[in-house]
Amino acid sequence: MSDTVDLLARVPLLQGLQRHELESLASRTRREHFRSGADIVQIGMPGRSLYLVIDGLVQVVYPSASADFELARLGAGDFFGEMALLNDKPRSATVRALTPVDLIALDKEDFRRVVSDTPGLALELLAALSVRIRNADEQISTLSDQAVRDPLTGLLNRRAFQERLHEEVDRARRYGTRFGLVIMDVDHFKSINDTLGHVAGDEVLSWVGRLLQEHTRAADSPFRVGGEEFAVLCASSDVHATGLAAHRLISVVGEAKPPLEQGLRVTMSAGYSGCPVHGLSFEDVYSTADEALLRAKSAGRNQVCDPPPTEPPGPSDAAPQA
Ligand code: CMP
Repeated sequence: MSDTVDLLARVPLLQGLQRHELESLASRTRREHFRSGADIVQIGMPGRSLYLVIDGLVQVVYPSASADFELARLGAGDFFGEMALLNDKPRSATVRALTPVDLIALDKEDFRRVVSDTPGLALELLAALSVRIRNADEQISTLSDQAVRDPLTGLLNRRAFQERLHEEVDRARRYGTRFGLVIMDVDHFKSINDTLGHVAGDEVLSWVGRLLQEHTRAADSPFRVGGEEFAVLCASSDVHATGLAAHRLISVVGEAKPPLEQGLRVTMSAGYSGCPVHGLSFEDVYSTADEALLRAKSAGRNQVCDPPPTEPPGPSDAAPQA
């Protein structure tokens, strides 16, 4: 018993408790041991106890269909299993022993009583929970960033491109704003891959990604939208400025030295369009730029083709109104 009191006294969560409070708590706890690999609590199960880690290491995981996602690792002095006891919901995660683990377990009613009787402990608990929430927020933001980034080039991916293009079209419809779209494609990419190999092909793509990142205005966003296809959304630009951006990017790539031996050059072709002058829908803006890109390809590559001429600019294309 005094052994348990000494162990409880070392748990940061319980620092605010007096000796007699620790003794009263210790009389209501039990010791538990789990072998390495054992699930101590399982997601979805009802919660009956809070656990304090005395020795060993546990992993808090969120199981998913493809793999378990690690939320945290906890060791001596940490606690887990409090959420289900506080909110009367099933366990929010699985907690697994990574090594043999010694725990002190406290049942739900005793835990609730000691929390409501001891304001210092309630405060410590809130502080620990706020750290957990903050860590979880950071994990969510890292995961959502990974979901919209192309790992090879570090640029935003096709999914992010589609979302942004829809948003820009929506904004143009509602507020009369304008923007431009450039679609670009690496010339003869298949033959680079076939003759120099996929590793060289990947290096070319990540090099193009770097150039686009470095040579676009802060307000413009480059994306990798497919294998060797890239796009740049030019926020608040009219179609003329978008055309200039397309020409500048094609020249930058054509003049830079790619990461290939034998002094080989890499070139790109591009088409572009403007919103609202080429339409006020995702499909119109995208297909106008894409058709111009196809013309640039069939006209010999390493060039930009203009979109079809448009009516003189109307009021909504003359000045941004956002
Ligand atoms: P409970 O939901 O009762 O059971 C699973 C436990 O895992 C949970 O209580 C917390 O103690 C712990 N847990 C859940 N999510 C996290 C997290 N993001 N960081 C640390 N521990 C967590």
